[in-house]
Amino acid sequence: MKVYITRNIPEVGIKMLKDAGLDITVWDEKRHQPEDELIKVLQQYDAVLVSGPVKVDRHFLESCQHLKIVSLMSVGYDNVDIEAARTLGIAVGNTPGVLSGATADTAFLLMLAASRKAFHMHKEIIRGNWHFWDPTANLGLELGNRTLGIVGLGKIGFELAKRCRGAYNMKIIYHNRGTNPEAEKELGAVRVPFDELLQQSDVVSVHTALTPETKGLFNKDAFSKMKPSSIFINTARGGVHNEEDLIAALESGTIWGAGLDVTNPEPMAADNPLLNMPNVAVLPHIGSATVDTRNAMAGIAAKNVILALRGLPLQHAVVQNKHLA
Ligand code: DGY
Repeated sequence: MKVYITRNIPEVGIKMLKDAGLDITVWDEKRHQPEDELIKVLQQYDAVLVSGPVKVDRHFLESCQHLKIVSLMSVGYDNVDIEAARTLGIAVGNTPGVLSGATADTAFLLMLAASRKAFHMHKEIIRGNWHFWDPTANLGLELGNRTLGIVGLGKIGFELAKRCRGAYNMKIIYHNRGTNPEAEKELGAVRVPFDELLQQSDVVSVHTALTPETKGLFNKDAFSKMKPSSIFINTARGGVHNEEDLIAALESGTIWGAGLDVTNPEPMAADNPLLNMPNVAVLPHIGSATVDTRNAMAGIAAKNVILALRGLPLQHAVVQNKHLA
């Protein structure tokens, strides 16, 4: 059976697929393969392992109804039309859990970097602007005993909350559709309405999936309710914030700073004004980019392919194998 991989993945995943006797092809060109080209290629394959922001919409799925699985090497599946996959009986797998710690570390890093203007200071040294020690310049914010507001407190948010509680004794508040009993019990987290979270938080961190309800959730109105001393962090999906509104909120001092691992669009243009703001730290969507985490993600994505091709239940399914649903 033949498997197509949309971008090179860690060797552990490749080896698992080869050891399972599968014939694999990896797209390794340094450009995004256009979806229509990909659809054409996939007519010769039984499964696709998707790494990267491939748009798997209804047209894609209807054109590839023969596929046994779309195996995502990501926890997020906002790029896939799940309803269409379900209707067409195409299994969809993802890789939750294994990237929670690494992604929480990235959010924590961005929070610290923004609070101390770290990325900007680094650039200033490179520009030759480190001349003398000025007691009134380069002042940042401290995080001790502040309030962390998490929007979408799941596995990643929980890991961030643990870090912030342990390192800075931060008070944790969160906004979710349901409660998170584990976070309430272990971290004293308190569930609050969205507006209350905006008003009370010193750091707001986004960990929600991108859905029609959360698209553009952080807009002018939301930023206007945050503290002028607050920091906005997004390591989830760029579509959850409105980038123009974020820029305006930072320029006007409506909020103090921001840390982004996700932008809208991706990649971010090199002349984006956010990149020159002292209180802003931006990373190129590297939340899960550690050796251990990417190996684990590749392993689950490969395992899901093998299971689907054997007609067995996926290890992690967004849409379970049709014979077993
Ligand atoms: C995920 O797993 O969803 C990461 O954001 C990588 O896309």
